[in-house]
Amino acid sequence: MRTENAPVVRLEDYRPTDYLIDTVKLDVRLHPTATRVTAELALRPNPKGTPGAALTLDGDELRLVSARLDGVALGAAAYAVTPSSLVLHAPPQRPFTLTLETELDPSANTKLMGLYRSSGIYCTQCEAEGFRRITYFLDRPDVLSVYTTRIEADREEAPLLLGNGNPVERGEVPGTGRHYALWHDPFPKPCYLFALVGGRLDKVSQTYVTGSGRAVEIAIHVEAGKGERATYALDALARSMRWDEKVFGREYDLDVFNVVAVSDFNMGAMENKGLNIFNDKYVLASAEKATDADYANIEAIIAHEYFHNWTGNRITCRDWFQLCLKEGLTVFRDQEFSSDERSRPVKRIADVRTLRAQQFAEDAGPLAHPVRPAQYREINNFYTATVYEKGAEVIRMLKTLIGAEAFRRGMDLYFERCDGTAATVEDFIACFAEASGRDLSQFFTWYEQAGTPTVTASSHYDPAARTYRLDLAQRTPPTPGQAEKRPVVIPVALGLVGESGRELPLKAGNEVPLANGVLTLDGPALSVTFTDVPERPVPSLLRGFSAPVRLEMDLADEDLFVLFRHDRDPFNQWQAAQTVATRVILEATRAARAGQAISVDARLGEALAHFLDSRAEADHAFAAQVLALPTEADMAREIGGDVDPDAVFTGRLAVKRALGAALADRLAALYGRLASRGAYSPDAASAGRRALRHAALDLLAAGDAARGTELAVAQFAAADNMTDRFGALAVLAHLPGAARETALADFAGRFHDDPLVLDKWFALQATIPEAGTLDRVRELTRHPAFSMGNPNRVRSLVGSFAMGNATQFNRADGAGYDFLADVVIALDPKNPQVAARLLTAFRTWRMLEPGRRAKAEAALKRVAGTPGLSPDVSDISGRSLA
Ligand code: TRP
Ligand code: ZN
Repeated sequence: MRTENAPVVRLEDYRPTDYLIDTVKLDVRLHPTATRVTAELALRPNPKGTPGAALTLDGDELRLVSARLDGVALGAAAYAVTPSSLVLHAPPQRPFTLTLETELDPSANTKLMGLYRSSGIYCTQCEAEGFRRITYFLDRPDVLSVYTTRIEADREEAPLLLGNGNPVERGEVPGTGRHYALWHDPFPKPCYLFALVGGRLDKVSQTYVTGSGRAVEIAIHVEAGKGERATYALDALARSMRWDEKVFGREYDLDVFNVVAVSDFNMGAMENKGLNIFNDKYVLASAEKATDADYANIEAIIAHEYFHNWTGNRITCRDWFQLCLKEGLTVFRDQEFSSDERSRPVKRIADVRTLRAQQFAEDAGPLAHPVRPAQYREINNFYTATVYEKGAEVIRMLKTLIGAEAFRRGMDLYFERCDGTAATVEDFIACFAEASGRDLSQFFTWYEQAGTPTVTASSHYDPAARTYRLDLAQRTPPTPGQAEKRPVVIPVALGLVGESGRELPLKAGNEVPLANGVLTLDGPALSVTFTDVPERPVPSLLRGFSAPVRLEMDLADEDLFVLFRHDRDPFNQWQAAQTVATRVILEATRAARAGQAISVDARLGEALAHFLDSRAEADHAFAAQVLALPTEADMAREIGGDVDPDAVFTGRLAVKRALGAALADRLAALYGRLASRGAYSPDAASAGRRALRHAALDLLAAGDAARGTELAVAQFAAADNMTDRFGALAVLAHLPGAARETALADFAGRFHDDPLVLDKWFALQATIPEAGTLDRVRELTRHPAFSMGNPNRVRSLVGSFAMGNATQFNRADGAGYDFLADVVIALDPKNPQVAARLLTAFRTWRMLEPGRRAKAEAALKRVAGTPGLSPDVSDISGRSLA
């Protein structure tokens, strides 16, 4: 067992290993409780290491059965072994072979790291440090080896045996009822990309022919009877492969590509070489059981894991500090893929919503860290929104700054130069500096400095001189361990919009470089004067959200309405409407907290009415984004401190009700016009139509509960697909009464045998903003379909309560915090990774009003003071309280 006092690992302490492992031959004899692993490691001293050094291999809860050096059993004096390490005191200073035999119990592996069983399927999860739970190894990403894996199992129990790379051979083990498969992966890889699977699975497959004409067998394997539900994922995979050829010039490199879906998985999915393993939530889809959002997630995650084959696998990370090298870049690539497959502006709006909700929140609290952290205690806790989402934003800015062509040249250079290596962020950025001829040293600050910069803007128009001066300034608030901040390089994409809506010419007068409508703010402040400006402009700044910053500018509401109506940039149209809505909700929240009557500025409703009359049906998905008000969490972030979640809820609901009432007739007509016609199809246009129809119903129901209930009940009953059915149920969830309870019961009965669908049911009930919800959630933890052992169930019920129900998690009596603390403490010994993730629900606790803040702190302290905590939970609780 690892202990809670995990040492700090620092980037500056990096040094290469003293030994290298060139090849690994694994023989894995699968057994439910006693799996035998024989690892034959071909080692040699690393020319970059210390000659004569001892060899220390990592282990985690391992049991060694035997150890041999060049075929000869190791004498007791030659080595020291514990469950967490194996030290060879004086290794030969020449190539040698170490053969290690370990025994594992996959059925007892509740951490879901290393080799485990999920619904009778053997599978592995090795990133970040799970391989050391299979055999003793140099478990770090800069040790690259060629793997050959023999997997043996009972033929009945596991007719399918999959490994990394290409299949070489398979056969029987005579007289035993067992069989084996031999796999060889010719590409050297770090051990975190190792995987194997054994089990009884259904398959859907097709032949994919690469751009250069090589035939690849691509297959998705799912639990028996679920093959039909994997066809969408298979299609998404083929589309991803084609897109990577077309947009990044990257072809697949093995004869087979396998994806396996399992039901117990700590995260979304894993990019193991040639054998991706997925949380089945991100593979299985059918019209009856998956929503449009599920389809979009499946497409994005299938693409993400596939894209890792080049950005992550062919080029991997030198050490875990470089995690964003593969994750930020691969998120950027999957975002681009989804943008090309669907609607680019709508995808951008959705991604920015996620960025602000997750990454800005992280950046504003005690868990803030740079895109490339400089230290960690537990690497599992750094698979964060900052590394992934902000990491992708940094790549996007790089592309904006150097232009699409130089960006592509830089990528090509990176693939050429770093292929087959374990690289650093410096190696990556050097390719773009070279390709663009730019000095990117200041840009690098984005990787090293935590915190969300604030850009403030003010301006002055001189009608006589026809000049317009724009003053920009930046500052980044302090974050843990970084009191002083440097200016970062901020690309500000902008335009000037005339009051009548026309785009005004953009001529920068004072030698400030302006390239393709992008200003670069790289100092503390920048002043630019535009010349020949024919009328007073409304500035449209940060178009397309060109940098991950907060923008502060005191535009008049009327100017925001101009942008909402006329900006040629759809992102800023949406942003303008959001900004007005934010102001209106802020005022309502203030009134609610002061115990005053809430009055809602009618102009927002009028602007939305005009939008509904003139533009909503030109792009349904975009219109749905416009109608979706800022969330309670968005508002809390905006308020920034002394937050009373009840007041936010009351203020926001009052605004939503007023809009619903003001727009009732329009919304009802829209709802009617957008009704489904024909069979369900998950394509983007159809999904957009359903999204807008749902947004209309949601607002309408806020304004008129009786009418909303009637429509939602009818939609629920008539639905022939999950998007419509669950959409109706989600609206009902916010309308207390018998209709809601009847629909919830009907839903549970209908899908009682499908855990992934019941997850939606758990999640929805956990987010009901009513005083009875905590009791309901407690009750649901005893539901037969609920299990603390399954991460999807825990995230659906407990995670949704803690991260998606602002008023009830933040109950004034602290009972929500106590409940979460209890769950974290109970789950930690079984699955520390999931427990630690749940605990991050406290990441913004200091922003609460003093009463709740004290209660949250007490709950966190109770967790922190629990004896025997995992390093995962100990790290999060410790940093949260620091
Ligand atoms: N590398 C995975 C990705 O595509 C993340 C991941 C999957 C992971 N499973 C994990 C990380 C388990 C840590 C632990 O983003
Ligand atoms: Zn990834």
